[in-house]
Amino acid sequence: MPNIVIVGTQWGDEGKGKVVDVLSPHVDAVARFQGGNNAGHTLVVDGEQIVLHLLPSGALHPDCVCVVGNGVVVDPGVLLREIDQLEARGWSMGSGKLLISAHAHVIMPYHLSLDALRETAKGAKAIGTTRRGIGPAYEDKVGRRGIIVADLLSADRLRERLEAVLPDKNRMISEWYGADAIDLEETLATFAAFGERLAPYVGDGVSLLHRITSTGGSILFEGAQGAFLDVDHGTYPYVTSSNTVAGAACAGTGVGPTAIDEVVGICKAYTTRVGSGPFPTELEGELAEKLRRVGGEYGATTGRARRIGWFDAALLRQSARINGLTRIALTKLDVLSCLDEIPVCVGYEDEDLGFRGSFGAVRPIYETLPGWGSDITGCRTIDELPTNAQAYVARMSELIGVPIELVSVGPGREETILQGDLFRREPSP
Ligand code: IMP
Repeated sequence: MPNIVIVGTQWGDEGKGKVVDVLSPHVDAVARFQGGNNAGHTLVVDGEQIVLHLLPSGALHPDCVCVVGNGVVVDPGVLLREIDQLEARGWSMGSGKLLISAHAHVIMPYHLSLDALRETAKGAKAIGTTRRGIGPAYEDKVGRRGIIVADLLSADRLRERLEAVLPDKNRMISEWYGADAIDLEETLATFAAFGERLAPYVGDGVSLLHRITSTGGSILFEGAQGAFLDVDHGTYPYVTSSNTVAGAACAGTGVGPTAIDEVVGICKAYTTRVGSGPFPTELEGELAEKLRRVGGEYGATTGRARRIGWFDAALLRQSARINGLTRIALTKLDVLSCLDEIPVCVGYEDEDLGFRGSFGAVRPIYETLPGWGSDITGCRTIDELPTNAQAYVARMSELIGVPIELVSVGPGREETILQGDLFRREPSP
């Protein structure tokens, strides 16, 4: 198998977890490289729903090592809860199954407080963050004030770090926002205990991943969020605080760009977004409500109703460029079975405008494709799809300029159409 990066091509929630889960039996490791527990991957295995926020989706495959890369921000309490939850259901996370990079940054209680306090203070101008402390944790990483996973492993070291950063944070929390300061001793006790529990999993992600690639093994790099939430390439400032594009897989794990063979973009057959910010093909009213209901479009992390819109080829073409997409996995095609006809945005009147920073002002150009009016969840090959569904997939691929090689027709692992050579490729020399 080649080394593959999997990324969201829209605003997140494209269904990456399922695609990673389908591919992970064929790889030796699944590595997360950015984001934190702002992500939420819903997996359905044997009819049972499992939501993972931090652990890579490969957790459910016994022979696949899971890596939480240095580019991830880790809330240790959440991570430990996920480990406990999986172990309680019979999936072992012990003995070499999970590696957490010692260099990953830790989400501390003051990051959670500041995320919520700032969002509340912004009122109607709020970004609509997940309030998981993601932005403040990345700010501290870049500001060289962060606490890394390695710091949790020694109480003395942790005290030193907390003594260095907490007074400033508490000034902001209590003097600027009038909220309760964070207690140093309590934080120290809680996070030193987290460190003790996490210690068996903490290690050097770079060595592990290089050992795998140098012995002919393969890695799946699991992105979180989507291209237009990228802090550089997204709809700034309505973005997350990390680079979500495929290039971030390298910096976020310590694997060089020459090791990457494939970049698979996950694309929903329509578009959704949570939180604030421009959304050129957004739909309002009954139709949006219908797609939201049929597609179960409520955030896996926050439970918020997702905003709904038509497929947007201008976004996807840009996504193909900034990620270097080699293939596309199309998800939730089955949700569109409820429509008689399906508008798709083929471009904008002034496409450059969006990518020069004015997405709010673009005027989408639509074409309408006929629906197929029948259940497609039982289809397992492209030929089994109704002709109009085949035409919809073909038109999307043509508009984007990238082959669609996986089509998801339902939430279950088996409700997937696979085509192309991705699974049959030999590892690169
Ligand atoms: P943050 O990542 O919590 O700082 O939130 C910043 C923006 O990214 C908000 O609009 C969130 O709704 C959005 N966001 C963060 N994570 C996800 C995700 O996994 N899926 C979709 N949107 C997300």
